[in-house]
Amino acid sequence: MVDGDLKDKDKATLKTPGGEYDFPVYGGSEGPDVIDIKSLYRETGYFTYDPGYTSTASCESKITFIDGDKGVLEYRGYPIEELAEQGNFLETCYLLLYGELPNNAEYASFVDSITRHTMLHEQMSRFFTGFRRDAHPMAIMCGMAGAMSAFYHDSTDITDPKQRMIASYRMIAKMPTIAAMAYKYSIGQPFIYPQNDLDYSSNFLKMCFAIPCEEYVQNPVLAQAMDRIFILHADHEQNASTSTVRLAGSSGANPFACIAAGIACLWGPAHGGANEAALNMLGEIGTVERIPEYIARAKDKNDPFRLMGFGHRVYKNYDPRARVMQKTCHEVLGELGISDDPLLDVALELEKIALEDEYFIKKRLYPNIDFYSGITLKALGFPTTMFTVLFALARTVGWIAQWKEMIEDPRQRIGRPRQLYTGEPKRAYVAMKDRG
Ligand code: CMC
Repeated sequence: MVDGDLKDKDKATLKTPGGEYDFPVYGGSEGPDVIDIKSLYRETGYFTYDPGYTSTASCESKITFIDGDKGVLEYRGYPIEELAEQGNFLETCYLLLYGELPNNAEYASFVDSITRHTMLHEQMSRFFTGFRRDAHPMAIMCGMAGAMSAFYHDSTDITDPKQRMIASYRMIAKMPTIAAMAYKYSIGQPFIYPQNDLDYSSNFLKMCFAIPCEEYVQNPVLAQAMDRIFILHADHEQNASTSTVRLAGSSGANPFACIAAGIACLWGPAHGGANEAALNMLGEIGTVERIPEYIARAKDKNDPFRLMGFGHRVYKNYDPRARVMQKTCHEVLGELGISDDPLLDVALELEKIALEDEYFIKKRLYPNIDFYSGITLKALGFPTTMFTVLFALARTVGWIAQWKEMIEDPRQRIGRPRQLYTGEPKRAYVAMKDRG
């Protein structure tokens, strides 16, 4: 029997000591087929064991496709390179949310709706003062995203499609405002309100870098680079933070709480925190001469050091986002007249050496998006602590699209993995007096 859009293709037979069992094989539109093992435990008494989920498709999705061997990334079928070169971020948001690129009227209406939700409830701005000035802005982002559920109760009923849509628009619209406020708070400058006649990325840059006492001059090249960075980070199928959002959402939690969970997961240096870590690493390496020392450390099994911005769970080829990011990086540095950035020199040389090194070739470790995004964001004027915040801002739409898809899936159930228990078997309680 086939569920919804799943296409029955074949069957897979599993042989266990208890017998032979057939399981349906389904094919998608691209990518590997899957074996449906939903009934495995019921039929055989076995669980599957897949820590890190390297072979597990946790859901069916129509949003994003990655072919890690070929270095392909598509949003709703459109290659990331084409969207980044020819599209814009809000158009990409619409595409991710609704499955199709908007026509003129749909685009105008979507932009209008997002733009009219950019302001934050004024009372929320007082939340910021509860954080220490030196708080990491990702800590503030987690707190503020979760706090939105306290301010926008009228969009927390997940069973109401209209409320789901309003919550989605609110988060896409307000995340730049919150991110910019987190930055302004950290440097002791006044918050800058959104300006609704600016496009999404120009408005964000203004909220970050304008000050009330001086006229702020927009730079369209930098705004376009920012927009492209947002497009590149908008979604990436079932990565750790997206799976976190889906898992949180599967319990029926409100969308603001789910996005807060996603932000918390993204913060880790193996995930979104890698852009900050990559730039810190380039700074630590410092000069081209020291690269071999760090390459040797990355290869040393006894040294926990890893080349940040290298390697990916899914891409075993050049991360397609890294190529666009590299180009964007050069555009930004060119526009700002930065011709000899020592970090860029180290990055280019490091990339060259690593790509020719036997260890990296054998393990198929290529630069990922975070390798070049750090240099670009630094040139745009952001401190390293803001890098992951920008990732969270951009990924919000992907999280929302995935959350919405899950909630609207009639087969949706609470996510509840099982385990291989290797702890103590059942034993009797020992009273304190008898424990020695
Ligand atoms: N430097 C040196 N060796 C590495 C690196 C690296 N950056 N990445 C993986 N390896 C080695 C690793 O030591 C292991 O070797 P062995 O098989 O001998 O034990 C092998 O390659 C496989 O590594 P893994 O940790 O099993 O692979 P994974 O799929 O679990 O991890 C990763 C993927 C992205 C966490 C990892 O490559 C890494 O830590 N990279 C650096 C952090 C980074 O740049 N993260 C950003 C990912 S892209 C943005 C995002 O999606 O959030």
